Amino acid sequence: MLKNIAFVVLFLLASVTVKGQSEPIQHILGRNLLSLNGSWQYIIDPYEMGFYDYRHEPFENSASGKGGFYDDRKQRDKTELIEYSFDDSPSLQVPGDWNSQAEKLALYEGTVWYRKKFSVHLTPGNKYLLYFGAANYEAHVYLNGKKLGMHKGGFTPFQFEVGSQLVDGENSLVVKVDNNRAQDEIPTINTDWWNYGGLTRDVYLATLPAGYIQDYKIQLAPGSGNRLEGYIQLADSIVNEVVTLSIPEAGIQLALKTDPQGRASFSHPLKKIHYWTPDMPKLYDVQIKTAEEELRDRIGFRTIVTKGQDILLNGQSLFLRGVSIHDENPLIPGRLRSEGDMRMLLQWAKDMGCNYVRLAHYPHNEKMIRLADEMGLLVWAEIPVYWTISWENVATYQNAAKQLSDLVSRDKNRASVIIWSVGNETPLSGARYNFMSSLAKLARSKDNSRLISAALEVHRDGYKVIVNDSLGELLDVVSFNEYGGWYWGGVPEELRKYQVEIAYDKPVVISEFGGDALAGFHGDEHTRWSEEYQESLYIHQLDFLSGIKGLRGMTPWVLVDFRSPRRQHPYFQDFWNRKGLYASSGEKKKAFYILKAYYDRIRKKYH
Ligand code: GCU
Repeated sequence: MLKNIAFVVLFLLASVTVKGQSEPIQHILGRNLLSLNGSWQYIIDPYEMGFYDYRHEPFENSASGKGGFYDDRKQRDKTELIEYSFDDSPSLQVPGDWNSQAEKLALYEGTVWYRKKFSVHLTPGNKYLLYFGAANYEAHVYLNGKKLGMHKGGFTPFQFEVGSQLVDGENSLVVKVDNNRAQDEIPTINTDWWNYGGLTRDVYLATLPAGYIQDYKIQLAPGSGNRLEGYIQLADSIVNEVVTLSIPEAGIQLALKTDPQGRASFSHPLKKIHYWTPDMPKLYDVQIKTAEEELRDRIGFRTIVTKGQDILLNGQSLFLRGVSIHDENPLIPGRLRSEGDMRMLLQWAKDMGCNYVRLAHYPHNEKMIRLADEMGLLVWAEIPVYWTISWENVATYQNAAKQLSDLVSRDKNRASVIIWSVGNETPLSGARYNFMSSLAKLARSKDNSRLISAALEVHRDGYKVIVNDSLGELLDVVSFNEYGGWYWGGVPEELRKYQVEIAYDKPVVISEFGGDALAGFHGDEHTRWSEEYQESLYIHQLDFLSGIKGLRGMTPWVLVDFRSPRRQHPYFQDFWNRKGLYASSGEKKKAFYILKAYYDRIRKKYH
């Protein structure tokens, strides 16, 4: 008992520490940006020669601090020994994982050094922010040979203010990215997705005025459909600065003043508002103005609450017709790089009749969420607290809490995001409960305007499928993954013998079900891997799940086949997880039509 109390106290402290860390700037895409995307030279460094000397001492700790690959110097004269050269090295495209850009990097796990040279003209009084959309998994960043810092976590943004280290003219930016997996990390060592390494998202240098608009939340007050509430935070805690917030189409024009912490809070009645919905994804032009800066964003306004076993969007009960999606382009190998990639996947979901997507199992690109806002898709956003995490390790918890805090901070103004998920399929124990319940409380403390969930643990007792995971007590929506007809229960028609028992009188959204099919492989409905087997599985699963009182949605696993190092069958899998409703070629499998027809029927029932 004492041990549990100690963990809860440590986790709560860890959460406080997390709050103290600076959150990345809000709406980087609306700023004055120099894009650092494009070609970066790279050096593969499996033995970390660029970071440690031959005694395995970090060069950074040496008296000179020199010797690492980060001091990107040329060989000065013919006598000098330098055993690396970015200028003579090949290049990788950023954003983009390295695995899909070079054959020898396909399965590589270790360090790659990136180098980008760029020129900038500095103007006195401005601030400069180096911003990374994400780097998987651990990044050490150096500018002109000086270390800026490091970041852990493969899917959330991070930044460095670089005023003093930036030079007027040409600069050398060097980043060490290491995608090694490890038990105590988030995610841990075992995941069912490809371990794409590298600078997988955009890199920008933002030019900002002193006292720039660092952060803001502009949403409807929780539970209220006619009150605008939030804050605008300036950098450097500038007090008594006039900030105007205008939303012309909603008749909003507020002149605010910052408090001693540089924050201007507001709560203001709204006379007329068109609520954001998947069918009518109305986005308002929002303008925030100070003496030095004018920032524009596009924000939708809606309310989301649960009532008994209903999920109410703008007061109307809805059914989440969803599908799960990984951040991977099936047609061009690797992580999604461009808006075109992202729009394609979200359109495939809409073509199936979806109004909702589960962006599994980690924070996706900010542009994906902004597209969901624009295209009218509700979103379940998630951190990769997945499977067998080191529940008793406080540093592991701090990592998870930081990733959650940065995800909530980045996407808090996106109407499409309705659920924050704190994890997926995590094995029951006291330590796991402490860890996950602390995350659920942290999520609610960071954002009391959205729903909290997780893919809970399920167990079977005979023909009963039982969901009584104690974490469910703290969640708004009960979600769980069940693979009847694929991983257990025999052939799909056996499912009719089973009953689901859920310990909570809350809305139920099935976070995963499904089975594999190799597109174009055909047989009867008992032939594993055939499209007919998967089709039968969907028919019987939908029947089985429809019997759940309080069923209010689902995100079958998965929109499209995706790569995984855990899927070794040479013919049916070949390092692909084949549970997609679309094949990796983009063609629709037979099960696609079963789900689409179901969603068409459901849609009529809810309108
Ligand atoms: C699990 C897990 C997924 C995985 C899927 C599968 O439920 O959440 O990440 O890909 O099952 O086995 O295909």
